[in-house]
Amino acid sequence: MTELLRNSLDDRIAEPTPALGTLERGEPIQVFAAPPGTPAKPRIARAEGIYMWDTDGRRYVDAGSGPVACNIGYGNRRVLAALQTQAAAAAFANPASFESAANRLFAERLAVAAGPGYERVFVVSGGSEANEAAIKLARQMAVARGEAARWKVVSRQPSYHGGTLGALSVTGDPTAHELFGPLMKPMPKVPAPVTYRIPPGFDQESWAEHCAEVLERTILDEGPETVLAFIQEPVGGLATGALVPHAAYMRRVREICTRHGVMLIHDEVMSGGGRTGAFLSHEHWPDCRPDLVVLAKGAGAGYFPLGVVLAPRDRVAEVASGGGFMHGHTAFGNPLACAVGLAVLDETLDNGLVGNAAEQGGRLRARLDDLMARSPIVGDVRGKGLLLAVELVADKATKTPFPPSAVAGATLARVAMEQGLILYQRRTNAGRDGDWVMVAPPLIATAGEIDMIADGIASAVAETARRLGAA
Ligand SMILES: Cc1ncc(COP(=O)(O)O)c(C=O)c1O
Repeated sequence: MTELLRNSLDDRIAEPTPALGTLERGEPIQVFAAPPGTPAKPRIARAEGIYMWDTDGRRYVDAGSGPVACNIGYGNRRVLAALQTQAAAAAFANPASFESAANRLFAERLAVAAGPGYERVFVVSGGSEANEAAIKLARQMAVARGEAARWKVVSRQPSYHGGTLGALSVTGDPTAHELFGPLMKPMPKVPAPVTYRIPPGFDQESWAEHCAEVLERTILDEGPETVLAFIQEPVGGLATGALVPHAAYMRRVREICTRHGVMLIHDEVMSGGGRTGAFLSHEHWPDCRPDLVVLAKGAGAGYFPLGVVLAPRDRVAEVASGGGFMHGHTAFGNPLACAVGLAVLDETLDNGLVGNAAEQGGRLRARLDDLMARSPIVGDVRGKGLLLAVELVADKATKTPFPPSAVAGATLARVAMEQGLILYQRRTNAGRDGDWVMVAPPLIATAGEIDMIADGIASAVAETARRLGAA
């Protein structure tokens, strides 16, 4: 193997955070990411398991897995070895000229883990890219069957499917559409089957039924012959705060899509790969199997940019015989990405991390439910496995959120960070739909670590209530 040489980063990686750190002072990293005056972030020194250390030696517990991505924790030896082995062998090989063992093995093992119906694997560099690829693949699949009039992709409001323009066009976030709408083709949106702030006159089940009816009515109004696909996050991510739809909704969604020849795409960028206590979330709803599945965060676990589209063999064959999938990127099928994907998959399956997500998710959920019962500002706890969210409210009886200006979720995340606990938080639709933080530790978390995280959240929630004047 090629010997790794020292490089110019070696001496600097443990350098302390510079005293200067605001935009005015010229921190280049923050120019795009933060408004002027934003304090500098701590600088990462190293990370191991569920822990991270900054260059001042402070330890943090990562209860968000970064942006719900680092599913197998940090510093995993098998993944680091796979990266090194593949990088030394061939860091890149143009898929137009070569196949790679990493790509082939990853695709084969992922297809086995996904189960029948998902035998074909297309590898790209992230979640948005994978959703774009899934939409273009669905379009080509329809055209291959002589249904060229199908192009509309229906999605939920709210939802998140990515930041690139195609993925953003199906993302349900009015604030983002206000800004970027003119750049995109409008796509039909239907209400999400929310389970907490249900509109008056409905209960959870009847709202779920209603949302499914709206989906069908939308398809009929648009003209079923023009509707290509319905894309949904089976277990929600940040946009809904880990929404778990009622079973009645999922069953009816599948029936409606089948009835109208609409492809069902499951965006499992955040939920897939074991996080919800199943390798793919549709295992929780066996009568709602999607036609295409998109994975990303759980597939690369933060070690390398990686996104995947899983598709059925026969439908891909139809596209192939029509000339092949007309889509690609420089980094598609990238050997390093595939080597990482393979190692992450092996770690997940060999170490029983899917089962651990279910078990520790249950433990964490019980602790958060207990917190909800005691705290004046925790209005709801939802999710599945280790994909959980805590919603904050100003008034539990009326479910009234804090005003958006209170930035309640961001306050909780900041307080937690001050106390050494990292939670993932970002607002959709400027906080108009409510405020929550994701609680999603790596799937390797032990019972003791889960208890430590639950204690940390309880302490951060209490301090947040005090700062928001609700204690
Ligand atoms: C459900 C979902 N879809 C798509 C994306 C976009 O993925 P990426 O940021 O890798 O482009 C995300 C990212 O958070 C996501 O949570």
